[in-house]
This record gives sequence, structure tokens and C-alpha cells, in this order.
Amino acid sequence: MTSPALPAALRIALDAKLEGLSRSDAAARAAVISKTYRDGGGSGTIRTEVDALAYALARMPATYAAVTACLNALLEVRPHFTPHSLLDIGAGPGTASFAAAEAFPSLQSFALLDRNSALRALANELSRETARMNQMTYAAGEARSTLALADAADLVVASYVIGELTEAERDELVALAWRKTSDTLLIVEPGTPAGYARAMAARAQLTAGGAHVAAPCPHESACPLAPPDWCHFAQRLARSRAHKQIKGAELPFEDEKFSYVIMTRAAVTDRPARVLAQPAVGKVEVAAKLCTEDGVAIARVPRRDRSAYAAARRWRWGDGVMQES
Ligand SMILES: C[S@@+](CC[C@H](N)C(=O)[O-])C[C@H]1O[C@@H](n2cnc3c(N)ncnc32)[C@H](O)[C@@H]1O
Repeated sequence: MTSPALPAALRIALDAKLEGLSRSDAAARAAVISKTYRDGGGSGTIRTEVDALAYALARMPATYAAVTACLNALLEVRPHFTPHSLLDIGAGPGTASFAAAEAFPSLQSFALLDRNSALRALANELSRETARMNQMTYAAGEARSTLALADAADLVVASYVIGELTEAERDELVALAWRKTSDTLLIVEPGTPAGYARAMAARAQLTAGGAHVAAPCPHESACPLAPPDWCHFAQRLARSRAHKQIKGAELPFEDEKFSYVIMTRAAVTDRPARVLAQPAVGKVEVAAKLCTEDGVAIARVPRRDRSAYAAARRWRWGDGVMQES
């Protein structure tokens, strides 16, 4: 399992860039950018070098942690997956590429694309700090046109991107992303009902065209969850001093909520059931809400079943768990 924490080289490079800046200016810019996101806007307010850095300091640790959690889930169902090429759509500061570089030592080529020149410049600078990524390419421009020109890749990632597109643009981008996927496509979104709905719409669009679901679902049927319920997960991450300052936060950690779907060209067998909420661990039993091949079920593991109970006590929200048939 790859750590959800930013690699040291990346964290040090980001912190060093903050050295020459007024922290209060960066925090003020981060607040504007976050408010724009909360109000349903996109990354259009990120225009300058300070904006890009403020965004990266405030959001990169969390999106990195979410992407890493998804890649860990992918590795769990496909432990022998060894992608050589990565395509990172709407790459911003390169978050998903950095996460994939850590998760997959096999990756040799990194192709990033984005229309935001401030984030692209930051990604280029950060990539120089890590040996793995300094051969990356970064195409500038609107995602659909740059993607149309991109080479296909073994692993394609769209991290926190499709929410910035209209529905029609999104459908087009998802179809194009799949055309450029030789093996596996990961779509990650914020863990809100709207983010989940976008991930599910992409899943439905792609399964209709013959793609397979690798995770988080243990099946390829329609999602069994009904509103107000939605499938999302949480990844805890530590906040560095700079991270806390930029966010004006006191807590030394945060929980990033995310929804995701991983689609593959070949069907994945033996997919585990997925833990959909933090299990309730009691003296008599562990009760866990699971998504299974047959739909959502509450698994109750009694204490008298000692070894199963001991295993179930370790289940965490988001884990894949093999069930005895
Ligand atoms: C929230 S940021 C996420 C960045 C990065 N993927 C991450 O996880 O940190 C969304 C990114 O998508 C890019 N983006 C949104 N719409 C785009 C479009 N139509 N064409 C190209 N890039 C786009 C933005 O410029 C921004 O960098």
C-alpha cells in the first residue's frame, strides 16, 4: 500500500516555494479559491504563480491522498498491474501523476494536459524535484482537443476534473478518455452526492460501451444505493505546518471525502465486497455495511466466530473484503 502522504521531495519543494511568499497573501488566495469551489465554480480563479501555489498547498495533499487511496484499491484487485504509460487529464499541479509515480514503479512515461498555465508552470517546476517525473510532457489547452492528440496510455486518470465541465463536455471527455485508455481508467471526484453522480454517470456510459468495473464496486450492475445515500470514501491525511497556515486550520489532520470509479478493458475477477461506512465494532459483533455482488447488505460478524470477528474488527471504510461464499 502506498502512503497517502505527499512524498518528502514534493512536500519540501512546495514548502520551499512558500518561503519567499507572504503566508497571509497565500492564505487569502487559498480562501478565495476554496470559496469558488464550494460555490460550485472551477479553477478559473487560479491565474498567478501565487494562486497556483496557494491551490497546491491547500488542496494537493488531499487530492494526492484520495488518488493514492484509489490506486491502492486498484492494486488490491490487480496486484500484477504494471502500467508503463500514464495520461493525466486536467492534471493541474500534477497531483495524480505524482501519486501514480509512487504507486507504480513500472511507469516510465507521464503525459499531462491542462488549460491552466499557472498550474502547468507549477507542475513543471515540481517535476524537476523528482527524478521519476522530470521526463514528463505537459500539453497546454482545452482537455478534449489536447486529449484527441494524445497517445493512448496504460493508465489514464481524471482527478477532480469532470466536475468543471458541462454535462455534454463531460460525456465527450469520458468517451475520449476511454478511447485513450489501453488498460485502466480512473475517475476521481469529490465525495459529494454530485461528485458521486458524475462518477456513476461515467461508469454507466462506459459499461454500456463494454468497459468493466474494477473498483470500488464488486459488480457491474447499476449502483444499488438510493438517495439520500451515496457511495463515497474518506482518506485521512496529516496536515503540515504550512498546510495548516494556508487553510487557517488548527487540527493536525483532515479527512478527504472522495468518490471514484476504476474501469478496465479486461474483466477483473474476484472483486472484493466494499465496506461502505465505518463498521460498528461492538462487544457482541462487528456490523458493517457492504456493497456485495448481490447488492448492499449489513454483514454481522459475531464475536463467537473468533477469527472472523478478529478480521472484521480491522475493517475500515473503503476496504475491500473477501467474503466466504
Ligand atoms: C480541481 S483541479 C484538479 C487538478 C488535479 N487533477 C488534481 O487532482 O489536483 C481541476 C483541473 O482541471 C483543469 N480543467 C478543467 N476543465 C478543463 C478543460 N476543459 N480543459 C483542460 N483542463 C481543464 C483545470 O485547469 C484544473 O487544473
